[in-house]
Amino acid sequence: MKVLILPDAPAVTRRAASIIADYLARDASPVLGFATGETMRPLYARLVALCAEGKMSFGRTTSFNLDEYVGVPAAHPASFAAYMRANLFDHVDMDPARINLMAGDAPDPEAEAARYEAAITAVGGIGLQLLGIGQNGHIAFNEPTSSLASRTRIKTLTEATRRANAPAFAPDPVPRFALTLGIATILAARHCLLLATGPSKAEAVTRMIEGPLGADCPATALQLHPKATVVLDEAAASRLRLRDYYETVHPAGAEQRVG
Ligand code: GLP
Repeated sequence: MKVLILPDAPAVTRRAASIIADYLARDASPVLGFATGETMRPLYARLVALCAEGKMSFGRTTSFNLDEYVGVPAAHPASFAAYMRANLFDHVDMDPARINLMAGDAPDPEAEAARYEAAITAVGGIGLQLLGIGQNGHIAFNEPTSSLASRTRIKTLTEATRRANAPAFAPDPVPRFALTLGIATILAARHCLLLATGPSKAEAVTRMIEGPLGADCPATALQLHPKATVVLDEAAASRLRLRDYYETVHPAGAEQRVG
């Protein structure tokens, strides 16, 4: 795992944006996996700004999203589809035909999960997968005890996750179920890029990077990935035991230099 520790959240955003811009510039048919959540909002704002300045383009990009609430249509303001439109899709040059979202209101959610997994396979897999992390160590909506071999499916949300996502649905309750990429689906991406900022993520980040591999912290599955980059601010990195080592390898988050 490549652990980059940067001074603050804006620096995390800038670094993540430049990794994404490099990938889009390098790959002839990029396939990006998008995440939602508060951590991603400033990143999407920066991508929008870079597009407006003509410094990057989503023109050739195919996209998939990590998850969606079951029973929630794309038009619902708390859907992840609405989040993506408001934060990114309505403001950049993505081809709508290349945007792949799970239909939360699909009549048969299991069939929808299978369709989505097959759609990822059909385009040759995800090239760069963006990830956040939940305070309980979840990635996408793979809650603790998710199978590390899971594929896209329905998951029951924990009460903690429902509370964390309550503001978007208030005064209505948060749905109990979600469609989510599985952990094995995420691990199949060629590069995983996880961002975490703020002290509330410090414990989950420490378990993910330094803890034993296990389903009680699904993000530990990234320890198995050959190319996982974790970009942290000081607060999210504050409980890492081997922090000195990460900063020796990547001083101030710089790329490693050998020799
Ligand atoms: C949600 C999403 C995850 C996200 C996590 C953290 O439950 N399903 O994909 O990484 O919460 O979100 P935030 O960035 O708001 O802390």
